[in-house]
Amino acid sequence: MKILAIETSCDDTAVAVLEGEGKKIKILSNIVSSQEKLHAQYGGVYPFLAKREHQRNLPLVFKRALRQAQGKRIDAIAVTYGPGLEPCLWQGINFANDLARKLNVPLFPINHIEAHLLANFLNIGGPASNIFPAIGLVVSGGHTQLILIKKFLDYKILGETRDDAAGECFDKVARILGLGYPGGPAIAKLAKNKSKNEGGGTSIILPRPMIKQKNYDFSFSGLKTAVLYLHQKQPDRIKKSPEYIKTMCAEVQQAIIDVLVSKTKKAVRDYRAKTVILGGGVISNDELRKQFKKNFNVLMPPKKFCTDNAAMVAITAYFHLKDKKHKQKIEAKADLTLK
Ligand code: KG4
Ligand code: ZN
Repeated sequence: MKILAIETSCDDTAVAVLEGEGKKIKILSNIVSSQEKLHAQYGGVYPFLAKREHQRNLPLVFKRALRQAQGKRIDAIAVTYGPGLEPCLWQGINFANDLARKLNVPLFPINHIEAHLLANFLNIGGPASNIFPAIGLVVSGGHTQLILIKKFLDYKILGETRDDAAGECFDKVARILGLGYPGGPAIAKLAKNKSKNEGGGTSIILPRPMIKQKNYDFSFSGLKTAVLYLHQKQPDRIKKSPEYIKTMCAEVQQAIIDVLVSKTKKAVRDYRAKTVILGGGVISNDELRKQFKKNFNVLMPPKKFCTDNAAMVAITAYFHLKDKKHKQKIEAKADLTLK
């Protein structure tokens, strides 16, 4: 079966073609056109600008993806229907709808969060049976969610952020420090520099929001505010000091990792989970990957499949269509939401 998938939930325009046969999965093409440079001037994603770019880029990205897949016949189309920025999502959904009609193939709506989790199985064809129950943790620019996965494709949300997502916190802190957008990679780079040169010890102490609370929820907006107040208090001489910036980056990164590790540990303990399954843009953070490996039996996608892409949307559709029960569900949903 060949699935063409479309992803436009935020600021990446992505199209992929995936071929699946049982456990054998081949990514025939996976094109991502990033709008990073465009949004950098605003320090974050500007939804209506993103929508305009999707409109402009989608036909081009689609052509490239199809060309790379060598024009193979497509059996189904999958599209991210949410969660995400609404004007952006509609660009992908409308494009997918038109395409499905033109090609006379079915169209399936895919949940973006689930796709981030299932990106883990792009290279290995599917999960081993002994990894469940598992705890899923999706950490991106728009979401921070802890999910109980009792068995494959069976989810229950345990907790999520009450305000900013962890990636959003990286992005907003980077804006405060004048490091540009997206903030995560910029902060990670400076933090790495710091730990290499000074052994990782930091003299700035930031809060670890909600770390002691007995629930699975997160809150990162207070962490950003703590950085803002601390930064505003500094004299200009300090604000410009590379030493201070690196220290702040290392501490904010560690505060986010501490909260994520601690809440995940609680969920693993409470639900006797065998595995932790990670997904989302923030999971491309090297320090986070290192510390999760140290603490858990963990699955994480290769870095290129952590940030938004359409291959993860295609594999999600593939797994649902392969399973009889889920196939009926996804087909019913397609009828309700997209036609
Ligand atoms: O999953 P994603 O591509 O888009 C959403 O669904 O939101 O995640 C984007 C987020 C941004 O907030 C970006 O700053 C963050 O992922 N990110 C990182 C790193 N690379 C991307 N955060 C921390 N460290 C990184 N290396
Ligand atoms: Zn995402």
